[in-house]
Amino acid sequence: MQKLKVKGKNILSGEIKISGSKNATLPILAASILSEKKIDLKRVPIVKDVVTMCHLLKYMGSNIKINSQKKNILINNKNKKFKNIAPYSFVKTMRAGVIVLGSLLARFGKAKVSLPGGCAIGTRPVDIHLYGLKRLGAKIKIKNGYIFAEAKKGLTGAQIKFPSISVGATENVIIAASLASGITYLKNCACEPEIKNLTDFLNKMGANISWLGKREIKIMGCKKFNHVSHQVMFDRIEAGTFIIAGALIGKKLKISGIQTRFLNTEIKILRKMGVRMQISKDHIYILHSPKIKPVKIKTEPYPGFPTDLQAQMIVLMTKAKGKSQIKENIFENRFMHVPELNRMGAKINTLGNLSYVEGPQNLNGAEVMATDLRASVSLVLAGLIANNQTIINRVYHLDRGYEDLEKKLRQCKAKISRIF
Ligand code: UD1
Repeated sequence: MQKLKVKGKNILSGEIKISGSKNATLPILAASILSEKKIDLKRVPIVKDVVTMCHLLKYMGSNIKINSQKKNILINNKNKKFKNIAPYSFVKTMRAGVIVLGSLLARFGKAKVSLPGGCAIGTRPVDIHLYGLKRLGAKIKIKNGYIFAEAKKGLTGAQIKFPSISVGATENVIIAASLASGITYLKNCACEPEIKNLTDFLNKMGANISWLGKREIKIMGCKKFNHVSHQVMFDRIEAGTFIIAGALIGKKLKISGIQTRFLNTEIKILRKMGVRMQISKDHIYILHSPKIKPVKIKTEPYPGFPTDLQAQMIVLMTKAKGKSQIKENIFENRFMHVPELNRMGAKINTLGNLSYVEGPQNLNGAEVMATDLRASVSLVLAGLIANNQTIINRVYHLDRGYEDLEKKLRQCKAKISRIF
């Protein structure tokens, strides 16, 4: 099994170009099922989850080609017959697989999609997805670990208020409603920039979706779609991760290929912590930041602080002089990096969904275990600032969502390599 070896204490400088967003690419790929016309996606991150979604689409019958060099994906589903089944083997490794449910149902009136099951960071149910699709007229049954959904006469527009905010459920229902008959009004939607990227993609393809307010969307169902060429937005979480790396051990580290207006909350919190930054519209310079101050923050749906940056932020909190606090409001079991960070010398105490971090602490290299995607990258960050060497096991988690992580860090003078 592959491992990462990080030799700590090397100052990062140079430039890191941020890749396209994994979380924007996955629902866009799921939405491709809706159309028979050519789809050309640019700036696609070639990471494991994206490849798995492509394999799932291929399994179902899609004609899909990945160009890893050019970072683009071409899809042409003209005259293609689809198997409207998403098997467990795909959905278990990548929960976002459940988003094909909305497109299969809208296009073919029938779908069988595996329930994603639990994962390391929590139970991750799909009740809100199913609630939304039922409101559009789908009949849904759960049997043998699968969701069986049917809408014999097609889906019909409806007024839907989500009982709580879910990124995936909002995406699933938007995709389904774009091909439903009539108008759909959605309330209490998630409003992550990746969802806006999805609605931009669908609108370019011929859908009629408008954001009426921060959490309200109107969708006028349409019958067919056009050819579309679409550039995926930058990866906010990858950007946030490298900004934190710069704050930890950078000296004029440039993070480019971003839109800083989507990072306002993160920038505000980092400034409060004493991170020195020069901010432009499409890049940030992180300057040497020796005086990190403690903060008290919580994770929330966008525009709040993202749960996907919580683990990385905890590493920065170990450098702050004083006691920081972070509350995890999105997933119930997302502090699995804490015991590993404590083994490296951090002083973090977790009580329920709250972690208290006492700093500043000097971290020491150790052999550690990655447990999920973002926890893994927090261990890489810890390795970058630790004395001696850190070995990170189970790096396949990292490969699900970070494109060329080691290469990007090495170009900025980090000492990091993969052991096979
Ligand atoms: C997406 C992101 C993930 C991010 C998360 C929260 C993708 C591919 N993944 O995941 O990286 O961490 O948003 O920003 O975009 N829930 C229910 N019932 C449901 C759906 C969700 O109870 O039907 C709960 C979840 O268990 C969780 C919370 O709602 O506690 C938020 O989940 P959700 O926003 O749906 O996250 P994902 O779409 O799975």
